[in-house]
Amino acid sequence: MTLSVDLKNIASFVSEEELNSMMKEVTAANETLRGGTGEGNDFIGWLDLPSNIDPDELSRVKKAAKKIISDSQVLIVVGIGGSYLGARAVIEFIKSPNYNLKKKNTPDIFFVGNNLSGEYINEIIVLLGDRDFSVNVISKSGTTTEPAIAFRIFKGLLENKYGEKEAAKRIFTTTDKKKGALKKLADAKGYESFVIPDNVGGRYSVLTPVGLLPIACAGIDIDRLILGANNAMEELKPVSLNNPVCAYVAARNALYRKNKYIEILACYEPSFRFMAEWWKQLYGESEGKDGKGIFPASVELTADLHSMGQYIQDGERILFETIVNILNPNSVLRVPNDPANIDGLNFLSEAELDYINKQASRGTVLAHVDGGVPNIIINIDKADEYNLGYLIYFFELACGLSGYTLGVNPFNQPGVEAYKKNMFALLGKPGYENEKAKLEERLKQ
Ligand code: PA5
Repeated sequence: MTLSVDLKNIASFVSEEELNSMMKEVTAANETLRGGTGEGNDFIGWLDLPSNIDPDELSRVKKAAKKIISDSQVLIVVGIGGSYLGARAVIEFIKSPNYNLKKKNTPDIFFVGNNLSGEYINEIIVLLGDRDFSVNVISKSGTTTEPAIAFRIFKGLLENKYGEKEAAKRIFTTTDKKKGALKKLADAKGYESFVIPDNVGGRYSVLTPVGLLPIACAGIDIDRLILGANNAMEELKPVSLNNPVCAYVAARNALYRKNKYIEILACYEPSFRFMAEWWKQLYGESEGKDGKGIFPASVELTADLHSMGQYIQDGERILFETIVNILNPNSVLRVPNDPANIDGLNFLSEAELDYINKQASRGTVLAHVDGGVPNIIINIDKADEYNLGYLIYFFELACGLSGYTLGVNPFNQPGVEAYKKNMFALLGKPGYENEKAKLEERLKQ
């Protein structure tokens, strides 16, 4: 199996008996999920998505990516939440967080519509300059405020530069098959439109055109990504603690029951940063509801050992860590020998950086466990498309199972409506007049 989960560093916190007992609940959650009998069961299309991707849709994605690569120096990707994080995570992990700075045959990719900052968008406009560009606007509902505003801006820029007709050939929408403002606009203007399946929610959609189109535009092999997910789908079916997905779900839920309320996802590769952002959104929106849920946090190591490391070692004992350990590096770098040895580092002469990184990781795990922080370790072979596709499916499946184990609906997000309601009222959206007056009164106090 491509991926393994090591639970030996939780052994002093959770007994085997407790894990086995938790497995009974995971088994029930597995029946609920796979039997489609749980709450939110109309959003479990991601479960067999890797083997169900429409080949016509996939070849349209590849064709569109080819066109964008051939006629655009920049791709602007508009989207937020599940319509944003997966694509960015995969591009940064496989290509690099410095993707845009590298020499390459694929376009620079800028992500917009994930905030409401004018400063942010103005800077992207400057970075875009007078280069040829295309836009991929992604929104399942087609009505989310942040991407809708950003799309207005970049659609305007495209139309000014190329005229409405040519601009229409440079706009690619990824949205619902039938409904929503974006679908309506795409139909009216003749934009090429990709479908987000009805039964796949935003945060589980990275392996649909939501993620696949921007990822393919970065020159990443989407077939290998899908193959990895597909193999994970097949291999992660058995319901047993020997299945890494069950081991992870049982472990994190057993720890939660022992008042370990915060899970910190950590990796020793900086390129993993946006994978952690993707994971936080997946788990935060799926589990944090009904007054329950593990709070998903992340650190980037070893950098954060010099900031959050203090808290992890010594602060409130409500934490556990999950380390994503990449077994084999993609490149080798060694510490140079220095005859003067003024820094005293010659004991590391010719040592590989990856070896030093791994020793830092092993030492940190032991220190944190000694400090009262259980550690789960997820091992993957290397940072490539296949392994990443596998890991993505692993985390999605674990999330669905974990949500049902916790007793929540892992596929809705009722909590995100509260801020929207207040924001619309304060902005004076028609229909929110009463609410506006009440909120303004409160803000005066
Ligand atoms: O996971 C989710 O469903 C959300 O995070 C959505 O992806 C996010 O709110 C964006 O929604 P939409 O794609 O409708 O613009």
